[in-house]
Amino acid sequence: MNFSNISPTEIYAGVGCVLSFNDYSRFGSRCAIITGKNMINHNSALQDVQSALKKENIQYISIPKAINNPSVKSIIDISSIVRSFNADFIIGIGGGSSMDTAKAVAIAAVNEDLNENNIFSVDLFAHSLPVILVGTTAGTGSEVMPSAVLTVDGIIPIKKSLKTHNSYAQIALCDYTYSSSMPDSVTVSTALDTVCHAVEAIYSKRGGIWARIFGHEALKYSFKSILSFTNGICDNDLRENLYFASILGGLAINNGGTSFPHSMGYMLTTMHGVPHGFACAAFIGEFMYRVSQICDVSETLTACGVKTVDDFIIEINHVLFTYFTKLNIDEMSLHKYADLAMKMNVNNNYLNITFNDCLNIYKKTCRS
Ligand SMILES: [Fe+2]
Repeated sequence: MNFSNISPTEIYAGVGCVLSFNDYSRFGSRCAIITGKNMINHNSALQDVQSALKKENIQYISIPKAINNPSVKSIIDISSIVRSFNADFIIGIGGGSSMDTAKAVAIAAVNEDLNENNIFSVDLFAHSLPVILVGTTAGTGSEVMPSAVLTVDGIIPIKKSLKTHNSYAQIALCDYTYSSSMPDSVTVSTALDTVCHAVEAIYSKRGGIWARIFGHEALKYSFKSILSFTNGICDNDLRENLYFASILGGLAINNGGTSFPHSMGYMLTTMHGVPHGFACAAFIGEFMYRVSQICDVSETLTACGVKTVDDFIIEINHVLFTYFTKLNIDEMSLHKYADLAMKMNVNNNYLNITFNDCLNIYKKTCRS
């Protein structure tokens, strides 16, 4: 059997791993810490990182300027701060947006010719500052992927991935306890993102054995946990399972990539402010249904602990609509969204999604 699996990030998981990791100085003596602006209020991740750096006499600057759905401008702005500080490496702390910002800034900071107009043309072999990531949400899997998803301005803003062969984080420090402070809706949205990563990667055209292994393991740890959380149960085991699942989901899409639930969901986020996980989950039931018409999905259903595709859809919708109100988007907008989605990864699967399919799925999902 021919296969490949490129996952170069060193992963250290466990309670207290940020403080017990004692090799930060491997990457230099000056560190830029990138977070969202309210990070310090939510958990102790930033304080732990600062304490760990002090122990190794590493100079640092904290840059709390990562924004949700990071824009290209935010990347260029932060990279100039990192460059002025002469940072040897970057630590990104937070959810997907902060971690993606850290990875993108690591590229832009050492490639001074990059600007808002040409950043996506970066050479695939371009250098990048070393990056350490500390996740504080459970869902994105950004810790183990090379890509940074950025928002490109326009009448309809679009999401675009920035990545190089060198943009994997060197280290991922995974302490699930940082995710305990997430509000309920963020817990559910990010966990649904994990489910989407897993299912989309399992049935992706690019996915092979590793996407299926990682994807199914991600579903075993995430699906029942989300149902329990929605029914009011939450303890440390559940938080740990969701965090572990998010890393597995990241490894799954690292091998397989995403498909139409992500491509179509992006417009709900950029145009209607729908959190990423809810936006993708709005389409995952339709994705499973269509895939089940052309291949055996029994292993996936078993991993989720459900018997039929209908059960899968009922459970996903129960979780989704506990926290999210169905949109009612006009048809003209949906036409434009379908047009844009068709230029993305809608067909990274065994299906053959046409423009009309895409439009009909949008109408079914986004018209009440
Ligand atoms: Fe995602």
